Amino acid sequence: MTIHRLLYRSDMDLIGTEAVIGQQVTEIVRLSAERNAAHGLTGALLYTRGVFIQALEGALPALEETFERICRDLRHRRVELLEFAQADTRLFGEWAMVRISAGHALQAYMPSLATLTEQTSEAVSAPATIHLMRSMLVAESISKSQAERGVASK
Ligand SMILES: Cc1cc2nc3c(=O)[nH]c(=O)nc-3n(C[C@H](O)[C@H](O)[C@H](O)COP(=O)(O)O)c2cc1C
Repeated sequence: MTIHRLLYRSDMDLIGTEAVIGQQVTEIVRLSAERNAAHGLTGALLYTRGVFIQALEGALPALEETFERICRDLRHRRVELLEFAQADTRLFGEWAMVRISAGHALQAYMPSLATLTEQTSEAVSAPATIHLMRSMLVAESISKSQAERGVASK
């Protein structure tokens, strides 16, 4: 099956305290994962400083149909497609949809993310951002499994 992958950024349009917004994002991700699983889509949603960055991958018809739905959603604005390309393999195959929370400290080390959140998407490498998102998930799952095994973090 031919896979395509897209990456977009948008301005979040959720109202409430950080905790309330966090709950709303959790709910978006939960429902998205259910729907995506039914359509063979995988991906990740990063949110930080009022911005969503989402990677979504799968077969073309399902991907296009879902992205159209996402674009119409009033919970965000100014959806800007950063990349839409054929891909050799899935990079988010383990996740029908997963949330990535980017801490402020993390952003300091990730210039490509900082640029995306400041809405100047020119000169930002979409592939680098996609790989960064994947690295963040892998790092998160490693530290989670270490915590579960009781490995002390330095
Ligand atoms: C930032 C963001 C990301 C979303 N990601 C997905 C997604 O990956 N898959 C999905 O089916 N819906 C996603 N949604 C929800 C859709 O926009 C839409 O509300 C949902 O699919 C239901 O569509 P419907 O009300 O037209 O049936 C997302 C919404 C937002 C705000």
